Amino acid sequence: MADNYLEKRMEDYRNQAPRTKRVATLGKLLRRNRSFRGYDTSFEVRADQLHRIIESTTLCPSARNQQVLRFRPVLSDESDNILKHIRLGGALPELHLPFPGTEPHAFIVICSTVEESKYIDIDLGIVAQTMLLQATELGLGGICIGAFDHAEIKAALELPYEPLLVVAIGRPAEQIEIVECGEGDSLTYWRKDGVHYVPKIRVSDLIIK
Ligand SMILES: Cc1cc2nc3c(=O)[nH]c(=O)nc-3n(C[C@H](O)[C@H](O)[C@H](O)COP(=O)(O)O)c2cc1C
Repeated sequence: MADNYLEKRMEDYRNQAPRTKRVATLGKLLRRNRSFRGYDTSFEVRADQLHRIIESTTLCPSARNQQVLRFRPVLSDESDNILKHIRLGGALPELHLPFPGTEPHAFIVICSTVEESKYIDIDLGIVAQTMLLQATELGLGGICIGAFDHAEIKAALELPYEPLLVVAIGRPAEQIEIVECGEGDSLTYWRKDGVHYVPKIRVSDLIIK
């Protein structure tokens, strides 16, 4: 047997494409990753799931690699502190979302250790989308919430830093469809027969000619 026989076998094994594992492609994750405002409350999000979602941000790019964002996980025992201070579905005020019994009960509050600026907001967007994609891969879903009472949430969670964004996480209980639209069309989401529709501008209208 050649000296490196076992090493070579191991390398061949590592190089093999997984045969049975189902791979969630980025395209599928992006499509599935919608902003959910209703959740299955019989499912309780666990600490390890929020940890995994926060961990995904350790691989994100960051302006000047400063990594000034910090993350406060919130589970169901504290969720009432958050729920009363967030606003969902501002474009559909008559619905008073979330519907009773479908509220999110897990959150990640993203804070900054330094004063908010353009580059911190760019970092913020990158980590928020990364966390939502990670949640989607775990079979969960979520939503970015910018409409929240900053002072109240900071006080309720005794945060040492300014909260910039709240991300709700849960098992989604909504049907959401994307509808292609063009430049100049209405971009307001709507609901019909229990389905939430989100207009998205087609790629040819996004490209500057
Ligand atoms: C930075 C940011 C802040 C947002 N804040 C809120 C919010 O406060 N309340 C809410 O219901 N949705 C909020 N959303 C969700 C948007 O309304 C949602 O992304 C948009 O309707 C498109 O739907 P989609 O995410 O499913 O594509 C926010 C999204 C982003 C990116």
